[in-house]
Amino acid sequence: MCGIIARVGDSDDAVDELLTGLENLEYRGYDSAGLAVKNGGGPNVFKREGEISRLKTALDDETPSGGLGIGHTRWSTHGPPTDENAHPHTGCGDRVAVVHNGIIENHDPLREELRARGHVFDSDTDTEVIPHLVEEHLAEGATAEEAFRRTVRRLSGSYAVAMLVEDSDAVYATRRGSPLVLGVDEGEYFLASDVPAFLDFTDDVVYLDDGDVVVAEPGGHVITDLEGNVVDRTVQTVEWDPEDAGKGGYDHYMLKEIHEQPAALRQTLRGRADPATGDVTLDDFPPGTFDDVERVQFVACGTSYHAGLVGSRLLGTRGVPSQAFLASEYATSPPPVDGDTLVVGVTQSGETADTLAALRQAHAAGARTVAVTNVVGSTAARECDDALFIRAGPEIGVAATKTYSSQVVSLALFGERLVRDVTGSRSDDVERLLSGLADLPGQVQQVLDYSKARRVAKQYRDSDAYFFIGRDTVHPVAMEGALKFKEISYEHAEGFAAGELKHGPLALVTPNTPVFAVFNDRDDEKTLGNVKEVEARGAPVVAVAPEGHEEVVQHADEVLTIPDTHPDVTGVPANVQLQLLSYHAADILDRPIDKPRNLAKSVTVE
Ligand code: M6R
Repeated sequence: MCGIIARVGDSDDAVDELLTGLENLEYRGYDSAGLAVKNGGGPNVFKREGEISRLKTALDDETPSGGLGIGHTRWSTHGPPTDENAHPHTGCGDRVAVVHNGIIENHDPLREELRARGHVFDSDTDTEVIPHLVEEHLAEGATAEEAFRRTVRRLSGSYAVAMLVEDSDAVYATRRGSPLVLGVDEGEYFLASDVPAFLDFTDDVVYLDDGDVVVAEPGGHVITDLEGNVVDRTVQTVEWDPEDAGKGGYDHYMLKEIHEQPAALRQTLRGRADPATGDVTLDDFPPGTFDDVERVQFVACGTSYHAGLVGSRLLGTRGVPSQAFLASEYATSPPPVDGDTLVVGVTQSGETADTLAALRQAHAAGARTVAVTNVVGSTAARECDDALFIRAGPEIGVAATKTYSSQVVSLALFGERLVRDVTGSRSDDVERLLSGLADLPGQVQQVLDYSKARRVAKQYRDSDAYFFIGRDTVHPVAMEGALKFKEISYEHAEGFAAGELKHGPLALVTPNTPVFAVFNDRDDEKTLGNVKEVEARGAPVVAVAPEGHEEVVQHADEVLTIPDTHPDVTGVPANVQLQLLSYHAADILDRPIDKPRNLAKSVTVE
């Protein structure tokens, strides 16, 4: 996955605004960066392997001025991270500069064809075919806009592309399958992979559709389809504050986002649940919406899959047949699906390729689809039959934190809507469940205020491996705890169902492998039995448990306490303790927390 940005304006400071945009997009990739600006003549290209700071240093010696520019931050798919493979890419004559996010699937035959006609390539990327094709059409006498359209018609795969051309005062851009939004300000335009890229400059955005072509000049812009017919797209004002998308005084986005959870949860819940009456109000899903649904399948990846597992358990225990699938597996070995199946894609970004593929496959098989996502205007939100927004606000850190909590709460509310429609009656414990949800913002705040996670992280910093166990609704929390720990600390961590420990993993347990045991006030006796098994092998035990569990305290070396609540939502504050544990473990080891190696925020390749 990569991030692209373009800026169109009268003033000559495109470079400053492009660099701000690139820094805001760095979460999408950070192994090379580049930009091109135009001031009358041809595009002036600067690019460097490595983080954006290296590009900035290069620009310190020679800052080009110009009102039009494009920029790119890369996460390698075709070709290693080198200066040559960094974007923007140009054709043979340097008349055209292009940035691209996505994959051009037919780049091999196009490259062969272009080579046969004498084109020389400088990079290993799939992207480079684009400027060479445009260059050819320009040489045939096409205008820049025609050359762009003709080129785009030849591409297959997924792409968001922005282009500068010599002798033209416009930026040309299009998308298919990769995100691209247009930011609109007075006399200025931005195009970017994501809204936070330009939130410092404007909050008026147009979410572009696949096949839209934008031509933006300082005097105005036009959006057309690939054939050139003008299309009407609405300008929407986003509610995100630029401050929300910055670090706000924290050392890392991840820590800021962990601390934003009480506010994010309030937003997720706002106007949706009334514990006194047991009513759940989801505007786009009035009572009866799911009367014809017989089974529910969740598809998701990584952290979102763990939230999907919780959602599935909540439904299953309330009488709605339900399963959660890893989206990548769903696509390769699909379960039976028919018109009575509801497939719910859980995806923070709404752009994860595996999840989109699973949703598309389910849709093609006749299922109804719903996206549970954080991003209005994302591909999942637009392609699914309906969307439920989790309202967590922008999440920049590669490690998902606040969005997991907001996903679980959204799925609990959505689950109650489904239970009523599918079974014909409310959950027996709905008032208690809703009141548990309503208490969560305050309870998460309590965890943030009193957590001992940093001390625990320090104490076990030299361990051989870290194991996480839990059962029922906190089994996914154990899996999520381990995922977060390995993702940002680079230490070996694994999450298991507590009951599975004795079926294999116990062989790995030693006095130097701390075991984090998550309790939820249901079947705790059994988990305690598993704790005793690891205790007998000399492993240190850290319990993540509701207050007042005397027996748990007796068998644990450390306790990360969580407030007492409904067992179905205990996982939310428990997971916050584990987020803090991972954060501090990674901080103590001086890892690049917001940008872990080899990973990107949103994975737009299958
Ligand atoms: O945007 P999505 O929720 O679809 O992303 C899915 C996963 O890539 C994501 O949750 C990933 O596992 C996180 N970086 C883990 O912290």
